Amino acid sequence: MQVSPLAKSAVNEYISRYGTFPTALVAAPGRVNLIGEHTDYNGGFVFPLAIERYTVIAAGPKEEDPQSPPTATFWTDSFDEEATIPLDRPVPPEDKVTWMSYVAGTVAGCLEKGMKASSFNAVIRSDVPLGGGLSSSASLEVAVATLMEKLSGSTLEGPEKALLCQHAEHAYAHMPCGIMDQFISAMAREDHVMLLDCRSQETTFVPMSNPDIVVLVTNTNVKHQLSGSEYPERRHACEEVAKILGVPLLRDTTLEALEAAKERILAQENGEVMFRRARHFLTEEIRTRNLCEAMLQRNWKTVGQQMYAGHQSLRDDYQVSCPELDYLVNKAYSIGLNGGMIGSRMTGGGFGGCTVSLVFRHALEAVQEALENDYFARTGIHTTSFATRPAAGAMVLPTP
Ligand code: GLA
Repeated sequence: MQVSPLAKSAVNEYISRYGTFPTALVAAPGRVNLIGEHTDYNGGFVFPLAIERYTVIAAGPKEEDPQSPPTATFWTDSFDEEATIPLDRPVPPEDKVTWMSYVAGTVAGCLEKGMKASSFNAVIRSDVPLGGGLSSSASLEVAVATLMEKLSGSTLEGPEKALLCQHAEHAYAHMPCGIMDQFISAMAREDHVMLLDCRSQETTFVPMSNPDIVVLVTNTNVKHQLSGSEYPERRHACEEVAKILGVPLLRDTTLEALEAAKERILAQENGEVMFRRARHFLTEEIRTRNLCEAMLQRNWKTVGQQMYAGHQSLRDDYQVSCPELDYLVNKAYSIGLNGGMIGSRMTGGGFGGCTVSLVFRHALEAVQEALENDYFARTGIHTTSFATRPAAGAMVLPTP
């Protein structure tokens, strides 16, 4: 399993820092989303899979001063930093967001559920690229929750764990995300894509076990400087349209109803933008259903069409793409099915980060090379890409 070398390095790091073997070892993956982008907070469908990139935590007991409350010390390789939090009470959120915000928020959620643990040391290692739109933060939260389960001897149901982690992201990282990232990291199954109905929170696992098809993740290696308000603004625009249409969520309306209310929406301040945001959501719902069905029928042409159309909608209606993502997707389109490229689109929140492509295995190297060369010629930046199969969700690993 791919997680092994990373787990071994976390164990070795733990031994060298604390001089003993860890007694708990857990892992939680990052993700890509095949389609259903910016739909989760509108109660729509998403279609993500876990990637073979994980956040691993090795932990073990820390000498406890019997007079003092228990504490947890975390060290992370991503920043080479250590931080300690109490375990007798949840620490409050802070304005400033650091890697520790995700950890403290998740531990706080676990403590609020009555999950008690004695003092421990923990080493965090991750090969989920940070800031690449592959849910490095959700994988950290879910890994911490899985560690707390192991150390406290309590179990959280998959959805309960995902929601606890989402709450940590809202309250401690001040990011009003949907539920997709935490659900897939907590509950993914190997060789399956998860169709998640974000309104009912019902999951359906769609097999993707054909070894001839691989998921290629290509990182633009750019992250455009944003004000931080882009995501909440889009979420808000969707909520406003739902209000105008008199429904709780955009999920509860249709493209026809939106078209019928067009004049009313356009009359609002910023109405044109609101209309486009809602149109993205409602067309994305249709594409998600189409892609899912086409995948089951192995109709790769339709799968590809839905992915390209999804990208266009994110670029033009939702306006979360960027030139670098567009270059990669355009190049993928020009490679085409005959060149072994099934389809490609941006994945995750946008404004940089990664594209996800479905590629026939026999063409993988040629496709990777073509994408890399074209991208470098246009931007002067190297992509980093890797192929993955749909991986398993959060797990407890055996300790050495
Ligand atoms: C981020 C959020 C998710 C989802 C995606 C866009 O990854 O964390 O909840 O909204 O953006 O699909």
